[in-house]
Amino acid sequence: MSTMTTNATATALAYQTGFGNEFATEAIPGALPVGRNSPQSAPFGLYAEQLSGTAFTAPRAENRRSWLYRIRPACVHLPFERIADGDVVARFGDAPTTPNQLRWDPLPMPARPTDFVDGLVTMAGNGDPASKTGCAIHLYAANRSMTDRFFYDADGELLVVPQLGRLRIATELGILEIEPLQIAVIPRGIRFRVELPDAHARGYVCENFGAAFRLPDLGPIGSNGLANPRDFMTPVAAYEDRDGSCELVAKFMGHLWSAALDHSPLDVVAWHGNYAPYAYDLRRFNAIGSISYDHPDPSIYLVLQSAGEVAGTDNIDFVIFPPRWLVAEGTFRPPWFHRNVASEFMGLIEGVYDAKEEGFVPGGASLHNSMSGHGPDAETFARASAADTSKPARVGDTMAFMFETRHVIHPTRRALETAQLQANYFACWQTLEKRFEPPAGG
Ligand SMILES: [Fe+2]
Repeated sequence: MSTMTTNATATALAYQTGFGNEFATEAIPGALPVGRNSPQSAPFGLYAEQLSGTAFTAPRAENRRSWLYRIRPACVHLPFERIADGDVVARFGDAPTTPNQLRWDPLPMPARPTDFVDGLVTMAGNGDPASKTGCAIHLYAANRSMTDRFFYDADGELLVVPQLGRLRIATELGILEIEPLQIAVIPRGIRFRVELPDAHARGYVCENFGAAFRLPDLGPIGSNGLANPRDFMTPVAAYEDRDGSCELVAKFMGHLWSAALDHSPLDVVAWHGNYAPYAYDLRRFNAIGSISYDHPDPSIYLVLQSAGEVAGTDNIDFVIFPPRWLVAEGTFRPPWFHRNVASEFMGLIEGVYDAKEEGFVPGGASLHNSMSGHGPDAETFARASAADTSKPARVGDTMAFMFETRHVIHPTRRALETAQLQANYFACWQTLEKRFEPPAGG
């Protein structure tokens, strides 16, 4: 039961565009100090608070922090206490990590009232939040808005990929609204509440323990293409001046903790800086591909990367397979058979993935771990091998994505024991016939 009283709320949905900019926004004109970040007395009596997402001494190009001007500082809450983790898993490798190819059906919708946090199900992961490396991969299925409940993730940045239903994400720094085919990224530590404008919501979450997602360099592609910076949307300041009983849930070191507070923590009236949530519409991705023969590696569809310590060897890549034309001639156009040192967790937002026309359905998922062979199923191989490549082909009805990491991805015990795991996934390749036509006398 809500005990909230709302004194004033500024909730206009508006965005600032760009990626990693030094944004500046105020819900009330004059709320943002000029010059000093922490003046002796901030405008309207607000508290000044710095939120740092990188080490203080990180190089300027990597340094991310924001200054928040708020009604109460973030430290005003009662002590945290452990609560049940639900289906959130803290440590990976709670079951033997199999080299088998794995594929899952979509998560069923919850039967009971379930909000975004309660609806998180950890499927896999690697690394650990204490060393700030690796990631966790979750699914979510929810049917209830958070109202007086708020969440932040100290373990990692959250990349949210809706597959079904819209999400209205009210954060300390402003409001994001996303629908399937759009994504949201909520930096580590930022507090938020997820509301469901629709009856149900389902999707995927990559919890990035490592370096914050950034746009990749473009190299020979040049200065445009892939995800263009101007298409990233960061909210303007929107605050809640609400007193009443609230719960703040923290994810810290893999576990959930709860603290009571007597006000909404979304009370930032103005802020400036480059550490902020953002949204992006995957339909705006400018896909680049081969116009001669042999399609490039899937890194050509890289949207965001979490860089590792070794150049070009990322902690996580977020890659999409968007609608596009296939025009390469005399070549096998779908994803080819392959094995990678990297590990690949895939999801499908809508339509059909061009390497698997059956079995991999919207809301489902697959995992191909390091050096596990995979590729097109037998039907796709047969069709693509006989396709007329003198004509362009449109892959129109599709939006698949991949969380690809340099680390082995450990499926959780729950992911290995769930009824959604497809026991017969391996069968899609078993009808690939022996192919060898040696020369006569050979
Ligand atoms: Fe692959």
